Amino acid sequence: MSESDRQQAISTLLDQHFTLDPTQPAPADGLPLALPSFGREEVAEAMMALLEGQLTMGKRVAAFERAWAAAVGVREAVAVNSGSSALLVMLEGLIELGRLQRGQRVIVPAVGWSTSLFSVVQAGLQAHVVDVDPDSLGVEGDFDDPVLAVHLLGCPARARSPLLLEDACGAHGATVGGVKVGARGVAGAFSFFFSHHISTIEGGAVTTNDPELADAMRSLRAHGWTRERTDRAAIEAEHPEVDPRFLFVSAGYNLRMTDLAGAFGVKQVERLPGFLAQRQHNHRRWCAEIAALGLPLRVFPELPGTEHAAFAFPMLLDADAPLSRAELSRRLEAQGVQTRPISGSNLVRQPAFARLRGVTLDGPLPVADTVHARGIFVGQSHAFNDHHGALLVEALRRAFAGA
Ligand SMILES: Cc1ncc(COP(=O)(O)O)c(C=O)c1O
Repeated sequence: MSESDRQQAISTLLDQHFTLDPTQPAPADGLPLALPSFGREEVAEAMMALLEGQLTMGKRVAAFERAWAAAVGVREAVAVNSGSSALLVMLEGLIELGRLQRGQRVIVPAVGWSTSLFSVVQAGLQAHVVDVDPDSLGVEGDFDDPVLAVHLLGCPARARSPLLLEDACGAHGATVGGVKVGARGVAGAFSFFFSHHISTIEGGAVTTNDPELADAMRSLRAHGWTRERTDRAAIEAEHPEVDPRFLFVSAGYNLRMTDLAGAFGVKQVERLPGFLAQRQHNHRRWCAEIAALGLPLRVFPELPGTEHAAFAFPMLLDADAPLSRAELSRRLEAQGVQTRPISGSNLVRQPAFARLRGVTLDGPLPVADTVHARGIFVGQSHAFNDHHGALLVEALRRAFAGA
């Protein structure tokens, strides 16, 4: 089969398969947690990578890094294989440059994803767990210590610190004071897991304006070698005794993104503005309509000076609500509305917490405990519209009508 015959065959296959354009609304007969964000273009680009034989980290990852840095508004993006890897590489990069010291205290919110906290411990830092703000479910205010601000489910946390780090894994496009998350501090970590605004299936990236940090992370994600570093030539000149093809300058990992994932990424970035606008529209409308129902639960509208990325739609039952979280979840699921707890909820209450060394607690964690006991989220998607909002409103109304 010739090259052009192969391309034609792939094109026909894709045309037959991708009848559903990811930019079109999902069927309004349920509310899944997540829907595919990719379509024909992403799969075609990935197949081209396969046909060209460029599978491991190469030109498509590099193109995605440039596009993601531009989308966030920073100088550099370093792609890796997950958001959790992005957190680890970000912290290890800062340690390698001496900007963080092993054992140094880093403020971490009690509510987050598991690896928001675990990565800090894995990097040998002292995680100091603080309670979260009841309106943002994140860390707010001014700190002298370094802070890892988690933008939970897309809601930007407004913490400030001389060394602000962001877990923006689920907050693509959120802003604080007009600045995108991932560009507010020293560095930010993103995830491109399947359910996120844009996806490389599995994948992640660290964004930063610091070229030295970016170079350190380029080594750390790839065995500690020098290949993709911008200062490669200078390092090689310092070590003429080592073959530059296998020159290792840091105790790195292998957390690289493949070019198949990069192929998805380059096409997905183009879709982000449209996806984000639809998610934000949904979030604002759903907040207003659910608040107007007067049910014993609260929603989380956008906070002043911020734009929410609307990754998922969290709700918190009132203390005196007639339904438990488990019962509300059961009644929503029975109506085709998928639910989850609010990420890891109070991470201190997870069994894995007992395994973590060197973590300190700031004090009691009443908001995190409330989220743990009474928080719930339902899915949000670029493919949802007002019909899906109406479905959620009706499902909630019915769930409480029977209570
Ligand atoms: C806030 C937060 N941090 C970290 C992660 C981990 O990202 P990944 O699943 O790509 O490792 C997630 C995943 O959704 C997340 O929401």
